[in-house]
Amino acid sequence: MAKATLLIVDDEDLVRWSLRERFTRDGYTVVEAGTAAGGVEQALGADLVLLDYKLPDGDGLSVLRRIKDMAPDTPVILMTAFSTVENAVDAMRHGAYDYLNKPFDLDEVALCVEKALETSRLRSEVRAFRTTQAKAYSFDTIIGQSTAMMAAKTLLGRIASSPASTVLLTGETGTGKDLAAKAIHYNSDRAAKQFVNITCSALPEQLLESELFGHERGAFTDARQQKRGLFETADGGTVFLDEIGEMTPGLQAKLLRFLEEKTFKRVGGLTDIKVDVRVIAATNRDLDEEVRSGKFREDLFYRLQVMPVVLPSLRARRGDVPLLAKWYVERYNQEFRKRVRGLTPDALAVLEHYGWPGNVRELRNVIERAMLLVEHDWLTPEDFSALPRGARATTFKLPPDGLNLEEVERDLLLQALDRTEWNQTHAGRLLGINRDQVRYRIEKFGLPPAAQQRSAAPFKT
Ligand SMILES: Nc1ncnc2c1ncn2[C@@H]1O[C@H](COP(=O)(O)OP(=O)(O)OP(=O)(O)O)[C@@H](O)[C@H]1O
Ligand SMILES: [Mg+2]
Repeated sequence: MAKATLLIVDDEDLVRWSLRERFTRDGYTVVEAGTAAGGVEQALGADLVLLDYKLPDGDGLSVLRRIKDMAPDTPVILMTAFSTVENAVDAMRHGAYDYLNKPFDLDEVALCVEKALETSRLRSEVRAFRTTQAKAYSFDTIIGQSTAMMAAKTLLGRIASSPASTVLLTGETGTGKDLAAKAIHYNSDRAAKQFVNITCSALPEQLLESELFGHERGAFTDARQQKRGLFETADGGTVFLDEIGEMTPGLQAKLLRFLEEKTFKRVGGLTDIKVDVRVIAATNRDLDEEVRSGKFREDLFYRLQVMPVVLPSLRARRGDVPLLAKWYVERYNQEFRKRVRGLTPDALAVLEHYGWPGNVRELRNVIERAMLLVEHDWLTPEDFSALPRGARATTFKLPPDGLNLEEVERDLLLQALDRTEWNQTHAGRLLGINRDQVRYRIEKFGLPPAAQQRSAAPFKT
């Protein structure tokens, strides 16, 4: 691999010469400038700049500032014969990587250059990784065109670019709360900082507290060393508190204090520590209910409710089932090296009518299983025969004033016939009855032959 290009900016020929000799020998490409103006001009092509403090046409600090404006990631090492503490502080404040005193030892310079380049390489790796993450968690990966999902996505996008410091994600299990939390983080200006994630139910209270807030040495028996908590680690970034409903009342109080004041103390610590983190809390419980039953603090609930996002259940957005199914078929085609073309209309109908208590996660698992086993081009209802039938019952809720069962039956029958273009066998399959039972009902309801062309079913879901 080609070694880096170094720019040496110094007005003393001897200094430039000795550095060039050394670094050329080490395999670097070396370019030189004897003036401030020359240094600025050549800076863009360099991976690192060795910069003299005192130059005939300006001081090193102004050159440093210009370079940092143009190429903020290029490390600059300042060299000077007039070392004063202020110079050093100033240089570092303006973004110098390090500071060397003249006359210097060439080995020392070489070491410093190597370290600076290594740091800068790591930084760009991290940046590349974060760009990949941002792509992996772009809002486009949250699938859904239904009104409910579009509204949720719009809200998530607004939150991401807002300064909102507390967000509450609710929704049944598998509705995409983890996904949403990451999308918020990686699409916000916090993306370059950390996203840390902790499940509140996974640890006993004391451990969770020290994970979140850190602890001082000796704070408790096992605290042999001081430890920074997640809120400190994620400074500038996002902390995702999953299953917030499981947090004990004592910790809820401490979390509330933190959310209100943005400061906290490490366990066993006396000083207040201030950090800037966005807290995204998530739960699949009904927090309202938890508050009523006294398990969740009301004040914390209201604090979290400032920015609530409800992720709709899959039942509430059945129209997205085909879209999600297609997305997962494509994904598993790649993963399992298969060439399944998609789902037959009947198969889609089975999925659309299922209750999905486990939401998108369950749909993913169901398709993954079908894709593993399938041996033909299309997924058919038989590929989903393992779907628990009982769960379908949860699909319907009896309205408060009741309903007319006959009417519902007629409507659903019409919908099934409609969808299958009056193929009685297929319609029957959608309703879990056979062809004769379909025909019996067509007669029972006296469905006119005219309706067999195209029926308008008022009971659309
Ligand atoms: N709208 C969506 N589009 C694409 N994939 C989704 C969507 N919603 C959820 N998923 C996928 O479903 C799976 C479960 O989602 P996730 O882990 O975010 O759910 P959750 O709400 O956090 O569930 P739990 O309450 O059980 O923790 C993941 O693989 C996720 O990528
Ligand atoms: Mg989750």
